[in-house]
Amino acid sequence: MWCRILTASLALLLVQENTFFSDALNNGLALTPPMGWMSWQRFRCIIDCDSYPDECISEKLFKTAADVIASEGYKDVGYEYVIIDDCWLEFQRDNITKELVPDRKRFPNGIKALADYVHSKGLKFGIYENYGTKTCEGYPGMIDHLELDAQTFAKWDVDYIKVDGCYADYRDYDTGYPEFGRLLNKTGRPMVYSCSWPVYQEIKGLTPNYEAMKEHCNLWRNWKDIQDSYESLRNITEYFAVNQSRIQPHAGPGHWNDADMLLIGNYGLSIDQSKTQMAIWAVIASPLIMSNDLKNIRPEFKEILLNKEVIAVNQDELGIQGLRKRFDDKIETWIRPIKPIVNGEHSYAIAWSSKRIDGAPFRVSAKLESLELNNANGYHVTDLFDKNRFVVDVLPQQNITVRVNPSGVVFYKFTPK
Ligand SMILES: *[C@@H]1O[C@H](CO)[C@@H](O)[C@H](O)[C@H]1NC(C)=O
Ligand SMILES: *[C@@H]1O[C@H](CO)[C@@H](O)[C@H](O)[C@H]1NC(C)=O
Ligand SMILES: *[C@@H]1O[C@H](CO)[C@@H](O)[C@H](O)[C@H]1NC(C)=O
Ligand SMILES: *[C@@H]1O[C@H](CO)[C@@H](O)[C@H](O)[C@H]1NC(C)=O
Ligand SMILES: *[C@@H]1O[C@H](CO)[C@@H](O)[C@H](O)[C@H]1NC(C)=O
Repeated sequence: MWCRILTASLALLLVQENTFFSDALNNGLALTPPMGWMSWQRFRCIIDCDSYPDECISEKLFKTAADVIASEGYKDVGYEYVIIDDCWLEFQRDNITKELVPDRKRFPNGIKALADYVHSKGLKFGIYENYGTKTCEGYPGMIDHLELDAQTFAKWDVDYIKVDGCYADYRDYDTGYPEFGRLLNKTGRPMVYSCSWPVYQEIKGLTPNYEAMKEHCNLWRNWKDIQDSYESLRNITEYFAVNQSRIQPHAGPGHWNDADMLLIGNYGLSIDQSKTQMAIWAVIASPLIMSNDLKNIRPEFKEILLNKEVIAVNQDELGIQGLRKRFDDKIETWIRPIKPIVNGEHSYAIAWSSKRIDGAPFRVSAKLESLELNNANGYHVTDLFDKNRFVVDVLPQQNITVRVNPSGVVFYKFTPK
């Protein structure tokens, strides 16, 4: 009897393993959501280095980012990829080889030298291109040179490539993104493949084929570009909440839904709102890619970015994307199952996030069993924004009560006893 059950569950396990390996991109990368820094949200397409020498898209900006990430604690907590976004190119390819040419003034030593520098800091190097005829800012796109460009990135020792989808027909993405993925694979150099494939379909109200994303990309941007404001952040979290049953099942080790860059340390978010972004991004297993001026971050924001306990939730190796389980009284309850698993029961990270934008902190209570936390021996509860400080021990039939600041968050870890 036991033997039969065991055999049956083993068979099931094997089937699941097979499904996993045949369905998902298998380049061995992004087994947890990628972490790093990217230029776009903060530095956009600033190319005037005479007026803005510390902000323009240039070798200096990325070397500085690598320096700060390596020397000021970011690398130690997991930030790894330094990624150039748009506006790094000359407007023309090389006339003879047809290769992409980086801007000669702003990247005087070429991209390979910059990749070498980033690697010398123990970090990884990423770059941006675009599937269509041009990049979103009008620089040369890849469409007629996909194979050459994949080879060029490999030659430059690129570790991560973000492929945008401007200036193309969104209907071509279903063949174009997989094709470029195969060409990346053919180079023999493992590169994280970040796709903007679904967003161009989602904003037209179409239903992207997320199983195909999972098969070809390590991460994909589902929704619109984040802007430096709480409203923009909220529009993205709302997208993740209302569409969760459609997108959540496709996330997992090696393949992630991407809510876009972290705004923390810029102009638009308060401290409470910054914690909200960090907590929700941790629950939904979104990549943690900062886009900020690393040399000029106030310490209270830096502390949020370096919070190891919150990062550990984001990087939890089970790779289960969490869900918004409740939304009442303008308070969202976001829940993610994580490790450790104790006697078969998961631990959980729960974020209570307030969509109230004024007033006093708001008190909410919930019975744990109503949140589907059913471990009979109860849970040991700690505060993730306060170095895992012990809060309370609580049984499934008991209430947990929190007070949430306006536009803020309470983020607790529940470990089964
Ligand atoms: C490439 O050709 C174009 C058009 O003939 C010309 O304007 C440009 O200067 C050439 N670029 C190089 C690097 O030779
Ligand atoms: C290419 O794909 C194969 C099959 O999925 C995989 O085993 C291999 O690691 C991939 N190589 C690269 C460089 O991505
Ligand atoms: C947020 O979404 C609302 C409703 O779709 C829209 O009117 C608003 O412009 C969006 N704001 C931002 C900053 O994206
Ligand atoms: C997905 O999210 C967007 C933004 O919140 C919303 O407009 C759209 O209706 C959602 N789609 C579905 C199928 O719920
Ligand atoms: C427990 O929480 C519920 C709301 O979920 C509330 O109605 C009830 O009064 C709370 N009980 C206690 C003892 O706080």
